[in-house]
Amino acid sequence: MRIAVVHGPNLNLLGTREPEVYGTSTLDDINRALAALAADLGVEAEPFQSNSEGRILDFLADVRDRADGVLINPAGLGHTSVALLDGLLAISRPFVEVHLSNPASREPFRRHSMITPAALGVVAGFGVDSYLSGFRCLFNHLRRHRNPDS
Ligand code: DQA
Repeated sequence: MRIAVVHGPNLNLLGTREPEVYGTSTLDDINRALAALAADLGVEAEPFQSNSEGRILDFLADVRDRADGVLINPAGLGHTSVALLDGLLAISRPFVEVHLSNPASREPFRRHSMITPAALGVVAGFGVDSYLSGFRCLFNHLRRHRNPDS
């Protein structure tokens, strides 16, 4: 089993970007924690980050044939991008949306997510644990889907 992990715009700056909101873990820290969890679960995690919407859409289309599901922090694109929603719908892979912060408790424009209606679920507000919990939930869903008795 393989889970693609997509990090949206500005998440390459984690560690120094508004640490009071997003914490001090870097993107490498998050990817390392996910790789360790993936190894425990016996699955592959394939991380990808871009500040470019087009590159994220290209990655989704490319990973479609090798990924069973997608864990995505859409970052700012989640609030605005029909194209991202369409890209996720186009690949027909279950996805879980995660956020380090809790967008619902922040500015009003962060309360809307274009992609939530199509997500399996959302984990937000727990920093790196949002990613780890979302990964685990997606893994459990995929395992159940593959083998209804597990
Ligand atoms: C974020 C929340 C978004 O509102 C914001 O645009 C981000 C990061 C988070 O992980 O908390 O870039 O997705």
